[in-house]
Amino acid sequence: MTTMESLIGLVNRIQRACTVLGDHGGDNALPTLWEALPSVAVVGGQSSGKSSVLESIVGRDFLPRGSGIVTRRPLVLQLHKTEDGQPEYAEFLHLSKRRFTDFAMVRKEIQDETDRMTGRSKQISPVPIHLSIYSPNVVNLTLIDLPGLTKVAVEGQPESIVQDIENMVRTYVEKPNSIILAISPANQDIATSDAIKLAREVDPSGERTFGVLTKLDLMDKGTNALDVLEGRSYRLQHPWVGIVNRSQADINKNVDMIAARRKEREYFSSSPDYGHLANKMGSEYLAKLLSKHLELVIRAKIPSITSLINKTIDELESEMDHLGRPIALDAGAQLYTILELCRAFDRIFKEHLDGGRPGGDR
Ligand code: GDP
Ligand code: NA
Ligand code: MG
Repeated sequence: MTTMESLIGLVNRIQRACTVLGDHGGDNALPTLWEALPSVAVVGGQSSGKSSVLESIVGRDFLPRGSGIVTRRPLVLQLHKTEDGQPEYAEFLHLSKRRFTDFAMVRKEIQDETDRMTGRSKQISPVPIHLSIYSPNVVNLTLIDLPGLTKVAVEGQPESIVQDIENMVRTYVEKPNSIILAISPANQDIATSDAIKLAREVDPSGERTFGVLTKLDLMDKGTNALDVLEGRSYRLQHPWVGIVNRSQADINKNVDMIAARRKEREYFSSSPDYGHLANKMGSEYLAKLLSKHLELVIRAKIPSITSLINKTIDELESEMDHLGRPIALDAGAQLYTILELCRAFDRIFKEHLDGGRPGGDR
């Protein structure tokens, strides 16, 4: 791994440890540290392809999917890159003793845990589900899947749901450290995109918004999305990325992720409309683009993250020394973990200040 990968990996683990600690964090710099760390929020209208894009980025089938409102609680998904040859597994915060190696069971647990909070209704809840995936095949990223924006409540939902969903999504995307993955389907007019509408409001300069256009394969024959993809319809600071996810028919036929990625690559390389953009399209490219951007953001923030980390180390050390107030045993262990992770960050960072800029390959 490069130094930068190690540092981002540590940032990821510190973020997770802060989450585990929850409200037991005490009066220290931890909440600020968590806020300082960037994550990617996935926003878009219902059925625009949000969950499909997330699965493509992960390269695994593990999210509940379908028509209607399926994602009813935020899912905070942390991807941790591990060394080659290591086994791939998933872990939920609310079931931290259990390692999932069967991703169909991950999907079932997301559904069950959603139902536990909301009942089997079509209600939503702002309480996030935290899931970590450890794999040699992922890039270090924190992604947040959010309920889809809608225009009308359906049977069984309160009228307020439209606004409730928008408010919930807004709390994630308005944070300045949040990177917005704005998903719009190509078979609808971009001018009506819920994702772009919200992104434009909270990030008018477009510096933290990545525009993603799904369902290119579903456009009417004889039309194409070049005006959007080439930035003429709606300009963003970052290039638009076009995506072809699995169709519902593919899903019903159990087309796996590897086959789906191959099909997507073939779609772009053989397309008369998009052939010239082929190497800047698709979900694998999107994952790399996001991870590169995250690296830039973290690199720019390293001085402030480092000083926060040093502050955290000092505070945690004195907190551990005194243990003056009753803290739960688990919380004590978590504080210790965070302390260790912060020290590791500080050490790797300093080693590389001596040996050159952080980010150099070893
Ligand atoms: P979400 O509600 O935004 O999370 O959307 P999903 O990812 O669940 O997708 C909704 C439906 O659209 C599913 O049936 C997907 O198979 C289908 N879908 C999503 N993206 C594409 C795409 O790029 N092409 C095609 N043909 N279908 C897609
Ligand atoms: Na859906
Ligand atoms: Mg979804």
